[in-house]
Amino acid sequence: MTITQAGSLILHSDVPTHFSPQRNGGANSSNDAFSGHYSCLIADNEVMVMARFSRSLLLIASALGLGNACGQINYESQRQAMIEELRDESRLSEEYGAPPISERTLAALGKVPRHEFVPNEQQRYAYENRPLSIGARQTISQPYIVALMTDLAEVTKNDTVLEIGTGSGYQAAVLSELAGSVYTIEIIEMLGRRAANTLERLGYENVTARIGDGYAGWPDQAPFDAILVTAAPEEVPQPLIEQLAVGGRMVIPVGAENEVQILRVLTKEEDGLVIVRNVSAVRFVPLTRDEN
Ligand SMILES: C[S@@+](CC[C@H](N)C(=O)[O-])C[C@H]1O[C@@H](n2cnc3c(N)ncnc32)[C@H](O)[C@@H]1O
Repeated sequence: MTITQAGSLILHSDVPTHFSPQRNGGANSSNDAFSGHYSCLIADNEVMVMARFSRSLLLIASALGLGNACGQINYESQRQAMIEELRDESRLSEEYGAPPISERTLAALGKVPRHEFVPNEQQRYAYENRPLSIGARQTISQPYIVALMTDLAEVTKNDTVLEIGTGSGYQAAVLSELAGSVYTIEIIEMLGRRAANTLERLGYENVTARIGDGYAGWPDQAPFDAILVTAAPEEVPQPLIEQLAVGGRMVIPVGAENEVQILRVLTKEEDGLVIVRNVSAVRFVPLTRDEN
């Protein structure tokens, strides 16, 4: 997680950083203990661990909640440690003027297995509070940013939500825990297909995914009570403003690539007036356009 103070703003980077030091020890500061290759065989009620690590090291790790006696990573305990870290992050960010993250949103993140949404080689980092590469030069967003954007969208069980930028499908899964239905669009076919498979495999039945240019929104399913855009356009796309319901909230990073972007919340009033609130400085991958 990168936090630098930019004027009175906190800069949250959502593109992969080379290395992210963990505060408070972090959820995964001990992950390197599991960096070797190992396999686990179960035969005749006997667990045989073939590993580069000694059996006693694995048992110590197991006792600490880092893995089980089979050397597998205990994702559940890592996830809960990540939630604790996000709670701290929320308190810290609040001191710099960012809105606090609600317990309801943290509970939603606490239910979603982030490790299932990242490529195998990234799984051991899944509960670090930082973005990770998902291929095709794209990222799964930093958990703090997912939490912040989800919270700002104020999603409830009756809401229909649109997400632009499915990526791994993780943000859609978090929204699925809070919303009535979630529609999500991804422009890169390989990512969109993989995310749809993951969401289906994990049973997120209220999420509908499609491939396409999210700039145009999803007119057939509009209006939306909340719209989350997880890639940055230089300006808010007009079709998305039109597809926002009266009383609806749009959470969107706005700004040019490689410049400081601003996370904005747009709310639509009854008379059609749109109120814009600047929340935080952020850095996202750009919202690209389908040239066709
Ligand atoms: C930071 S990633 C999103 C992470 C994602 N929400 C998740 O939970 O993994 C941004 C995503 O937006 C996608 N994207 C960029 N421009 C787009 C567009 N015009 N329409 C739909 N998706 C787009 C990128 O391909 C990328 O997968």
